[in-house]
Amino acid sequence: MQRPQHGGDRLWAAQVAGCQPEAVLDFSANLNPLGPPAWVRDFIQSHHHLLIEYPDPQYRELRRHLAAFHHLEPAWIWPGNGAAHLLTWVGRELAALGTVTLVTPAFGDHWRALQAFGAQVQPWHLPWEQKQVAFPADKHGLLLSNPHNPTGYLFTRDQLLDALENRPLVVVDESFMDFVPPAQDQSLIPVLERFPHLVILRSLTKFYALAGLRLGYVLAHPDRIARYREWDAPWSVNGLAAALGGLLIQEQDFAQRTWDWLAQERPRLQEGLATIPGLHPYPSAANFLLVKSAQPVPDLQQRLLVKHHILIRDTLSYPELGPNYFRVAVRLAQDNQRLLQALGCEGVTS
Ligand SMILES: Cc1ncc(COP(=O)(O)O)c(C=O)c1O
Repeated sequence: MQRPQHGGDRLWAAQVAGCQPEAVLDFSANLNPLGPPAWVRDFIQSHHHLLIEYPDPQYRELRRHLAAFHHLEPAWIWPGNGAAHLLTWVGRELAALGTVTLVTPAFGDHWRALQAFGAQVQPWHLPWEQKQVAFPADKHGLLLSNPHNPTGYLFTRDQLLDALENRPLVVVDESFMDFVPPAQDQSLIPVLERFPHLVILRSLTKFYALAGLRLGYVLAHPDRIARYREWDAPWSVNGLAAALGGLLIQEQDFAQRTWDWLAQERPRLQEGLATIPGLHPYPSAANFLLVKSAQPVPDLQQRLLVKHHILIRDTLSYPELGPNYFRVAVRLAQDNQRLLQALGCEGVTS
């Protein structure tokens, strides 16, 4: 079986580990361990008729809810089958500009979306270990994620406003922004209406732990949204996801519980990792941590799988990082503890 390009490939992990996929403790996919909210299971059971009918091709109800939540008009929003699906259309637009600056290391799907349409990708390596980060002074289109995957770095709104100057198109993938509590939120959605050349992507699959259901949305000027709708296949969001999306974003209690959990568990996990000789975790604004390892990770990953049934995300698919980094999701306290024990037991010094 081929080594996965993304996190969450339990079938591959189970084959390496020699166990059932359900027995794998997965730190490779960055999903909220508190989710989905408890009522989602009942909702799915009582709304199975939504799988029989065609969804509204205009997704009026869902867009109305999302728009109200973000204080925008529905014409500024279009839903997709996960943020990854919508990356295809922003990739097409960016590629039409010719050269595109891509903040690297980049989520693999950013590369896919740009290369699928023949973009000239100009990688710009994010110096995430430094305090001062300034974007290159070029005039190309720009694609980045904020918080940044895989480093967890959070660009400030001011940094991004600077980057918006002199560029024809800027796409900010905010798939992990929901994990940032309101006091630290750096989303560009509140300023979107001022910048017709700004596009924002959001995902509901991570924060609400519905990666299999698939739901994301793009926010942009209505002319651009109209273009994406022309390019899109009809009904690309399934009826259940469309009905759930508008309810999920109103889940204030769930959001608060998530911020509380993360505020407690992320520093604990980071500190725990830092005490293991040979490991260096970086600070993160998201629900995952990037870790530098003195030992090559593929071998460590294999031992964690075979001996402990634990899956960590290697960074081989991020060419700038190579074999000496890994990424782990922050999970519930007892799972994080299991990871720390397993890593301590394997030993990571070179
Ligand atoms: C930066 C980034 N954007 C988008 C996605 C995909 O999100 P979705 O599940 O909504 O397609 C991921 C998944 O890991 C991601 O890391």
